[in-house]
Amino acid sequence: MNLDFRSDNVAGVSPAIMAALERANSGSDSSYGGDAVTARLTARLRELFETDCAVFPVATGTAANALALASAAPPYGLIYCHHEAHIANDECGAPEFFTGGARLVGLEGDHAKINAAALAAAVAAAGVGEQHHMQPAAVSISQASERGAVYGVDDVAALGDVARRHNLVLHMDGARFANAVAALECSPAAASWKAGVDVLSFGATKNGAMAAEAVIFFRPDLARDALFRRKRGGHLLSKMRFLSAQLEAYVTGDLWLANARHANAMARRLADGLARLPGARLADPAQANEVFVYLPDAMARALEGEGAKFHRWGMDGLVRLVTSFATEAASVDGFLAAAARAVPRAI
Ligand SMILES: Cc1ncc(COP(=O)(O)O)c(C=O)c1O
Repeated sequence: MNLDFRSDNVAGVSPAIMAALERANSGSDSSYGGDAVTARLTARLRELFETDCAVFPVATGTAANALALASAAPPYGLIYCHHEAHIANDECGAPEFFTGGARLVGLEGDHAKINAAALAAAVAAAGVGEQHHMQPAAVSISQASERGAVYGVDDVAALGDVARRHNLVLHMDGARFANAVAALECSPAAASWKAGVDVLSFGATKNGAMAAEAVIFFRPDLARDALFRRKRGGHLLSKMRFLSAQLEAYVTGDLWLANARHANAMARRLADGLARLPGARLADPAQANEVFVYLPDAMARALEGEGAKFHRWGMDGLVRLVTSFATEAASVDGFLAAAARAVPRAI
């Protein structure tokens, strides 16, 4: 039984996406994004998001975030984010590098979400217009958050209001945007530009693609230099149709949401089961496809002894479990059964 809950990246590729790659592999087509698949993808994303957005496929989430933020902030800009944000901790300084030196400012907030009041206070303290200080330029939020929580549409809109008031670009790191939209049960437009998001890193890799994300600009002025930044950043794939084919299959029909709904349901099943176990305590609300839970060390070790895989998130017993489109209910139940067997040793 597969008890691998380390990440959504440990899963394979959705069969429909693999089939789309196979289809893209016949005949020939134009290179560097001039192909028919990329044109169809752009049209489909405009339809899905109900607006004339600009679409730039790239191969990794780090590239998507770096490209989005480079378009949003000058070298002397401040980019506000949660202090646990992927852009701040897990991208090896790519946002700073691609912006040419912008600084990330880590804010506090429960469940790795920032809030409008904290953002407004940080901007007020920044010294706007003061020549000695770096200048507020952008705010970046992870949807879903790094602790498996989901910003409500109103939360995003409140951050969007502060951003607009202070002329900040609102970027959404949507590596798990599908999981968030599935949880919110709203339209992708409502979850993004209608709530004030200016640029979205639209993730697919964690939710069934092989390696494909798209930077989606909802403000044409921000997209002006993106062609050149993407090329300079090494993400203008000569055989772009293979990136676009993944994304096209992903947003055709309901695949992206069906995958996300399944992953979320598996996380809920896991979280509910763990919440019932003596000794285990949920740390965050598990609204998307990640479960953060405190486990007694004896239980964590017993689970590892039975072949379960997960990340220990710090030294205090916090554990991260991630589900995906490919997670089977039997794996969740197997994990919970193994955890239950460990209860007598753990409490
Ligand atoms: C919140 C978030 N953003 C972005 C990424 C994308 O990272 P990568 O460059 O590995 O595709 C990840 C992957 O872990 C993530 O969790």
